[in-house]
Amino acid sequence: MVEHKYDFGLVGLGVMGHNFILNVADKGFSVCGLDLDQEKVDALIDSGADTTKVNATTKVQDFSQQLTNPRKIMLLVPAGELVDKAIESLLPHLDQGDIIIDGGNSFFTDTDRREAYLKEKGINFFGSGVSGGAEGARRGPSIMPGGNKEAYEYIRPIFEAAAAKFEGEPCVTYLGPKSAGNYVKMVHNGIEYGLMQLTSEVYDLLKRSAGLNNDELSDVFGTWNQGRLKSFLVEITAEIFKKEDDLEEGRLVDKILDKAKQKGTGKWTSQNAMDLGIPVPSIDIAVSMREISSFKDMRLKVDEMYNKPKPEAVDRDTFIEKVEEALYFSFIITYAQGLHQLAEASEEYGYDLKLGEVAKIWRAGCIIRAALLDDISKSFEAEPELQNIAAANAFVDQLNTTVGATREVVAYGVSNGIPLPGLSNSLTYFDALTSGRLPLNLIQAQRDHFGSHTYERTDRQGIFHTEW
Ligand code: 6PG
Repeated sequence: MVEHKYDFGLVGLGVMGHNFILNVADKGFSVCGLDLDQEKVDALIDSGADTTKVNATTKVQDFSQQLTNPRKIMLLVPAGELVDKAIESLLPHLDQGDIIIDGGNSFFTDTDRREAYLKEKGINFFGSGVSGGAEGARRGPSIMPGGNKEAYEYIRPIFEAAAAKFEGEPCVTYLGPKSAGNYVKMVHNGIEYGLMQLTSEVYDLLKRSAGLNNDELSDVFGTWNQGRLKSFLVEITAEIFKKEDDLEEGRLVDKILDKAKQKGTGKWTSQNAMDLGIPVPSIDIAVSMREISSFKDMRLKVDEMYNKPKPEAVDRDTFIEKVEEALYFSFIITYAQGLHQLAEASEEYGYDLKLGEVAKIWRAGCIIRAALLDDISKSFEAEPELQNIAAANAFVDQLNTTVGATREVVAYGVSNGIPLPGLSNSLTYFDALTSGRLPLNLIQAQRDHFGSHTYERTDRQGIFHTEW
């Protein structure tokens, strides 16, 4: 019988798993890894980590015997069937009270199903999003756990030690029951899609209209990253423009094919927002743009069939300032939409999310980390019933002062044939949200006209129908 000696177990020694183990071991916990691939096991053992802290095996029985009780086992395997397979392979070797944590981007209803299934067997299951990529896993990711609150106490010390820190506070907290953690991570990714779409539009404007070369683009994004747009995505964008191509003369960014792939989390965010009846157009359009981008041959063909305006010259410095305002405005609106979705999901699925806490654990470690999130978390703390940050006192001024420039930038794009769907959808969302009266009374009239669908009136209570 092997002595029980490792504090934490991790299944799946790909780059994320490998790095997360080294991170947890650096914080003083001992970790045992499991992978069927001997090379990955060897790579971990040969990583130079302290062998009293890190071990790995290809055998599930050895693995389970080496873990302290209750076992705390994290899965970092691709979402889908492999998660179920990993759970089934572990089950015969577990005891009541053990904890399994799925650290992948699993769809939230899969997490609910697994949680219910494992609960019957006395096993605690956590769906826990982990954001920050390979680097984050190694240096400190943002971790989004959901599951049984009492059982969370067993994993809390490990997660708090391994997570990124924002001014000393760990970017992890217990979010809620069942799939709360996976749901929050899904919406994190939806926001990620929105912000990425916005930065790509701004790149297009600065390059095509203001004529900035890659060095200048890098400088502009680098400068923005010193100000209110300070964020991981703006920071890496500045780095991307500097990267030389290894294979040919020139910068790598110019050689990358303009077809953006996706693994599904952005689409799930949009789909579920529709189910909940929450508008997230800045995220929807980001998914659609990845889809449009995939039709490269069609785009090339149609491009030749139409004349497009040549972008008008702009005053470079003024234009850069206005674009910064439009990007900042649209970043706020994209977070507002994602957080509104979380507010509704929290009600609908009983997550009881604290949105201020969610914003707090996104302040470091994750892909959507941004200076802005500190203000967002403070707004939710000041107004716990807040549903939409566009209605938060702290943001009214910021949106009011940047909306004018956003209108100018969007109008420029429209009249010059430059697609800016992320910026314009963010603006349209804002304009609709701030319209006390919308023309949708006409839609109700039409519905009643052709289908007797009835309508309500502005001047009296009740449900009405008219023979038109
Ligand atoms: C993160 C990322 C991570 C992954 C995305 C990429 O938070 O660390 O979001 O989860 O890189 O899922 O998603 P797409 O492949 O769909 O762009």
